Amino acid sequence: MNKKTHAVGTVVQAFGNLLHVRFEGAIKQGEVAHIRLGEEALLAEVIEIAGDEAKVQVFEDTHGVKLNTPVRFSGHLLEAELGPGLLTSIFDGLQNPLEKVANETGIYLTRGVYLPPLDRTKKWEFTPVAHVGDTLSRGDTLGFVMEGRFKHLIMVPFSQFGQVKITHMAKAGAYTIDAEIARSDDLVFTMVQRWPVKSALFEGKRESPTRMMDTGLRILDTQFPVLKGGSFCSPGPFGAGKTVMQHHLSKYSSVDIVVIVACGERAGEVVEVLRTFPELTDPHTGEPLMCRTAMICNTSSMPVAAREAAVYMGATIAEYYRQMGLDVLLLADSTSRWAQAMREMSGRLEEIPGDEAFPAYLASRITSFYERAGELLLKSGKRGSLTIGGSVSPAGGNFEEPVTQASLLVVGAFHGLSRTRSDARRYPAVDPLISWSRYLKPVGAELDAKFPQWAAKVKLAATLLGRGDEIGKRMEVVGEEGVTIDDMVVYLKAELYDFCYLQQNAFDKEDAYCPLDRQMEMFGVIQKIFEKRFAFDVHDAARAFFLTLQNELKNINFLPYKSHHYADAMRAVIKKIDGGT
Ligand SMILES: Nc1ncnc2c1ncn2[C@@H]1O[C@H](COP(=O)(O)OP(=O)(O)O)[C@@H](O)[C@H]1O
Ligand SMILES: [Mg+2]
Repeated sequence: MNKKTHAVGTVVQAFGNLLHVRFEGAIKQGEVAHIRLGEEALLAEVIEIAGDEAKVQVFEDTHGVKLNTPVRFSGHLLEAELGPGLLTSIFDGLQNPLEKVANETGIYLTRGVYLPPLDRTKKWEFTPVAHVGDTLSRGDTLGFVMEGRFKHLIMVPFSQFGQVKITHMAKAGAYTIDAEIARSDDLVFTMVQRWPVKSALFEGKRESPTRMMDTGLRILDTQFPVLKGGSFCSPGPFGAGKTVMQHHLSKYSSVDIVVIVACGERAGEVVEVLRTFPELTDPHTGEPLMCRTAMICNTSSMPVAAREAAVYMGATIAEYYRQMGLDVLLLADSTSRWAQAMREMSGRLEEIPGDEAFPAYLASRITSFYERAGELLLKSGKRGSLTIGGSVSPAGGNFEEPVTQASLLVVGAFHGLSRTRSDARRYPAVDPLISWSRYLKPVGAELDAKFPQWAAKVKLAATLLGRGDEIGKRMEVVGEEGVTIDDMVVYLKAELYDFCYLQQNAFDKEDAYCPLDRQMEMFGVIQKIFEKRFAFDVHDAARAFFLTLQNELKNINFLPYKSHHYADAMRAVIKKIDGGT
């Protein structure tokens, strides 16, 4: 749009960060507006238009805004800037680079300070791929730069619908992101492009996900697995371990790129993330973890409106890397904060509230967020995937609330954390009796090839847990002696499986991460125990035997993973089982 045609307006009413603006000219839904307060220009977004008045949501603290404060509309939607340098960055929901903002202003986020998301001065070694005369379309590769160990493709902008004929290509060499690297008759291409964050960015053929994303968490990989390109949610009460689990996933999941959206529950939690994350190393490569990470953080100084943006910003950056044929994981902690932002805004707009005062469109927003996940077959023939995992923090841990329910309708796997488990320090507190995964079947098919009857055995293990739980509950009423010894043994097997296999201490050096092959070895030993018919004649003997076994198995878990040590220790345990009746 031509600059001169941008609409202008003035504030006629203010209600928290919701402004009514009377304007002249044409504006559109979602358009970005700038509220002019002297030197400051507060960023805002159009959320409702009626006649010559618009409701505009400001992303920042609005003190000082008064009647007739001037407003300038920008002609574009809230966009992400996409290009080399996104990795290692920490942004806020509006893509301000937080570290740079901090350097510039001394504190985190002074109102009205916006900085370009990507470094304008850094030079990147560009290698052209396209040629003069090529006819290309959105997402096609013009060239690439190396962003750490990743080949960052410089692609024809996704906003460019229709074909472009290349008339000029830059030679290989070092360029800043704003330098021209290619041209068509009427367009100049640089290394940066922009995309409206609320629209899904994808070009290619959507395919059903088939490849497992292993996480190194036994309870997930074995019982409730996730596929690359799939989605999952982890609701749980406060303190149940959602954040710890998301951090684990960001470190260990078998993906190329991780995008983290942190909307902290506690004051200081996000600052903690900001401080600790850059110091971590990638367990798979030994490089700093940030080299494959982009982070979107909400600081507590930002009002709720920016939280909503953060989730979309993260999704857009993640989708952009998927287009390069990479496997990307987007983690959002916590999506409840995002939903609350919607609720607050909806309240101010005096919309008719739905369940628990959330807006009626809550479920559709949550659905369209998770539906941005997926596996793509790209034009290049490569596959890229975006996996999305969100935590949910329902008040009181009650899963009947709208955010959890809406998430459950759309995700492929549900990892429900329970207070009972976290109180008993059974970590990760994913409750195996309520959790599920729709990906169990395809993962089973993949793993059956490596471990005979994997899928069937996993199913049996799940059944055993259910029976164990039921017998445990009965024992609480009638005591151990009130159930048969056979039932008692089933209960003890289930407990053993829980303690020695499903539980994992996130802070244990050896056991925090359990690769798949190790999971299979451990599962094999547990299977031997499951399949064995033990013939005890007193309850006490059964309990004593299983406790010894449990201790022994736990010791193995914590041994450094050297397969020969491991195998020796395992053999000793198996011998014990065989002799133990
Ligand atoms: N896998 C785990 N292993 C050991 N401790 C854990 C684990 N998960 C959670 N915890 C403990 O629970 C505490 C709260 O976890 P956190 O992830 O912050 O909860 P939430 O995000 O659900 O509020 C952690 O500080 C840690 O002490
Ligand atoms: Mg948390």
